[in-house]
Amino acid sequence: MKPFDKIKQQINEDLHHKIPQKWKKIGNILVADFSQIDTNNLSQISQVYAEILKVKTVLQKNKVNGELRKPERTEILFGEDTKTEITEYGLRYKMDLSKTMWSPGNTGWRAVLDGPEKVSSFYSFDSPKVIVDYFAGIGYFSIQLAKSYPLAKVISIDKNPDSVEYLKQNLEFNNINNVEVVNDDCRNINQKADVIHLGYISNTLDFLEHAHSNLNDKGIAIFHEAYNNSWLGFKKRSDWGSIPTKFSKLMEENGFETMKFERVKFYGPSKSHIIAYLQKI
Ligand SMILES: C[S@@+](CC[C@H](N)C(=O)[O-])C[C@H]1O[C@@H](n2cnc3c(N)ncnc32)[C@H](O)[C@@H]1O
Repeated sequence: MKPFDKIKQQINEDLHHKIPQKWKKIGNILVADFSQIDTNNLSQISQVYAEILKVKTVLQKNKVNGELRKPERTEILFGEDTKTEITEYGLRYKMDLSKTMWSPGNTGWRAVLDGPEKVSSFYSFDSPKVIVDYFAGIGYFSIQLAKSYPLAKVISIDKNPDSVEYLKQNLEFNNINNVEVVNDDCRNINQKADVIHLGYISNTLDFLEHAHSNLNDKGIAIFHEAYNNSWLGFKKRSDWGSIPTKFSKLMEENGFETMKFERVKFYGPSKSHIIAYLQKI
């Protein structure tokens, strides 16, 4: 029997149209939207979800926003502990969902070289000596990059001290020792590099000039951002696969040639989270 059918069995039929059919399970914590449920039913219902889906904590889904992508507020509906751990592509990550974000949507792209060609081709570099991750978070790209390029020195920067705390733990957890962690605004760090990873969304362009000035000749920038599909000129699925003219022109104006371009995931109804492999010119 499907989990949701089991859940419905234990909840009053009048409420079935209000309870969440979709949820995210991050480690042993459940995140879902229970906002349609009135407060006096909330704890009983979230307990049913916890038992059926075998999690220790149930959190009300809410937005991550602000510069540091911190959860706006954390509403615990069942349980008390917001710390959890996941294993992905052979690496373990500890995190606290009340302090740091985790985007299940990026799973495939966090595989770096362990991923399918579509992914690994964006993370194939020619024996880089220095790799800098400008928005390291709790380390999902930094640790994979460090593991994929053991001879490289990786510098992982994040402005959020809570993320940095977990980044340090996750490096130790996975016995990764070619990473230097910096808790600062990446624009304050001047470090020449062969590769700079810009895993950010909303105003990543604002950081491109700093990346350009810190890249060696022909250096590579891996650029993430979200754009309106209409601005990209993509109306249908088959349009994807080519490099949008407007995007490559914008990157040229910032001193980069766009070598590869791909969609990571949908980002709301008319937007897409994209990744681009840029070479400094
Ligand atoms: C969306 S998370 C990205 C995490 C990871 N790179 C990813 O792609 O999944 C953004 C991270 O960037 C950090 N951040 C935001 N602005 C920053 C800045 N100016 N310098 C360094 N880190 C910054 C935030 O603290 C947050 O951990």
